[in-house]
Amino acid sequence: MSNYHIKHLEEYYQVFRKSVRNPENFWEEIAEEHFIWRKRWDKVLSWDFSKPEIKWYEGAQLNITENCIDRHLRTRGDKTAILFEPNDPSEEAEHITYKQLYERVNQFANVLKDQGIKKGDRVCIYLPMIPELAIATLACARIGAIHSVVFAGFSSTALSTRINDSECKIVITSDGSYRGSKTIDLKSIVDEGLEETPSIETVLVAKRINSEINMKEGRDKWLQPLLDKASTECEPEIMDAEDPLFILYTSGSTGKPKGMVHTTAGYMVYTAFTFKNAFQYRENDVYWCTADIGWITGHSYIVYGPLANGATSVMFEGVPNYPDWGRFWEIIEKHKVSQFYTAPTAIRALAKENLDYVEKYDLSSLKVLGSVGEPINDEAWHWYDTNIGKKKCPIIDTWWQTETGGIMISPIPYATPTKPTYATLPFPGIQPALMDENGKEIKGNQVDGRLCIKFPWPSMARTIWNNHDRYRETYFSAYKGKYFTGDGALRDEVGYYRITGRVDDVIIVSGHNLGTAPIEDAINEHPAVAESAIVGFPHDIKGNALYGYVILKETGEGRDQNNLRKEINQIITEHIGPIAKLDKIQFTSGLPKTRSGKIMRRILRKIASNDTSNLGDTSTLLNPEVVQEIMDNVL
Ligand code: PRX
Repeated sequence: MSNYHIKHLEEYYQVFRKSVRNPENFWEEIAEEHFIWRKRWDKVLSWDFSKPEIKWYEGAQLNITENCIDRHLRTRGDKTAILFEPNDPSEEAEHITYKQLYERVNQFANVLKDQGIKKGDRVCIYLPMIPELAIATLACARIGAIHSVVFAGFSSTALSTRINDSECKIVITSDGSYRGSKTIDLKSIVDEGLEETPSIETVLVAKRINSEINMKEGRDKWLQPLLDKASTECEPEIMDAEDPLFILYTSGSTGKPKGMVHTTAGYMVYTAFTFKNAFQYRENDVYWCTADIGWITGHSYIVYGPLANGATSVMFEGVPNYPDWGRFWEIIEKHKVSQFYTAPTAIRALAKENLDYVEKYDLSSLKVLGSVGEPINDEAWHWYDTNIGKKKCPIIDTWWQTETGGIMISPIPYATPTKPTYATLPFPGIQPALMDENGKEIKGNQVDGRLCIKFPWPSMARTIWNNHDRYRETYFSAYKGKYFTGDGALRDEVGYYRITGRVDDVIIVSGHNLGTAPIEDAINEHPAVAESAIVGFPHDIKGNALYGYVILKETGEGRDQNNLRKEINQIITEHIGPIAKLDKIQFTSGLPKTRSGKIMRRILRKIASNDTSNLGDTSTLLNPEVVQEIMDNVL
């Protein structure tokens, strides 16, 4: 991709203009560089956002692992592909070269085949951040199976919902995981989750913590002995450009998670192109993204994007504060990390700690700092810039989504002048639009509105698994002919974008997308709860925290409120996971509703945020009196 390694602003604008003027030609040129295509495409793009139907590189055939692994064997066989840094710093880091990755992925792929997994089958991966996680995803891609990675912090109920939605045949998990000073018994979560998952035939179990676990006869198998017997050669399955590569679930406005489906060729081209340009990766750099592979950031920018570029990608098992708050900086020094990519919530937590933790380490290897997952506030931006980048490393505030597959709006380091809290400019090929409430595009600068994208890009999700209507309804119905992101944004005087946050029922807590509906559904399962509503309120470290308003049934009245709060959070933990726990729970006799029965979340949000100066006209509510009661009892 030498033609498109953008190095200065003028070049960016040139490339950008070209990508808008002639997108097919632009994306064709990028696809022509370096990749191995088993068959060339017949047509670069066909699209219709009303259906919606989007096809990139139609007619092409390829295997993404051949591009991420085999392609590098001749020139980079002994280069580290994945650099695994364990939870415990006294355990040695593992350097997995491209050659070893090739062998391990092939062995894993052969094991999957032996278990009867074929092209198109769904494979659920529920693993901690150990090398097997990256290897398992690539092994699926090798044989054309569709991986569905479920973040290993999700509960057993969340796991089984996801398994059942896409009818996975197999689960890959481990005996347990390390997380700082804790160990987590993953296998029992899986056992619980598999009580009602009729599609699952097999569970493959990797050994990580060597604990005694229950192995169900006929279903559960230890992974390692199977790998040991498997051949290190496995012919890649030849995939059509639009064959699904993976499903990844994200929260939405109903209780059911959305299985976003990403396809093969477009996803590969776009993640490779954006990785190279957003991080300005050079051959001997060591790149580190702290995300978990259970999220899209890990899929695109720990696994596929870096490996498609022959990069060295660090995979970290642990947490930022174990054994102490210096761990990230220690790892940067130890592995001479050049590009570091993390989330604002981590930056805010690290910034709260003593600077000694940072100053002990040599961070001079750093060249680019990235941020992703939520808006980065001014203070965190400057702390990152001053103390980590020493004012020498551009900060790329990258805006994108599970649905977009890759980075959409971001500075290109050393080309785009950065501006704190701004994601700045769209990547080449990305055509954002700001919309007003009446569905009209707002032109010009110094404006704000709802962020849409008006032209397809190669890595956009193609559908929601088994629910194309929901896909159309969620993303393509609010603004005709445009993809609606669910975010609000403003555009400044030079055309830079700043993402202002979600404008729908999704709340981002510590960088995790949480839908209000699934949490409310979980709370309402409590026998004493009649109704509930969740809103976000500002939190120093998490960005947003959750505030719940709960109406009790008669049976719940008079019960100890603190016990009830604990029970409610326990139910949320069981249904979703600890990340969705509420910080505050207020019991109330009613919720403000419109005359058509809709909860007025705007009012609840303001009260929870202690911002009641301008609640607007509440007299048109069905039950205006409840607003005062809620204000009087706010926590
Ligand atoms: O609201 C935006 C926020 O995260 C949402 C997407 O979340 P998810 O699908 O989990 O993917 C996160 C990782 C790509 C977006 O709709 N978001 C993501 N990046 C930024 C952001 N908000 C502001 N600035 C960002 N850089």
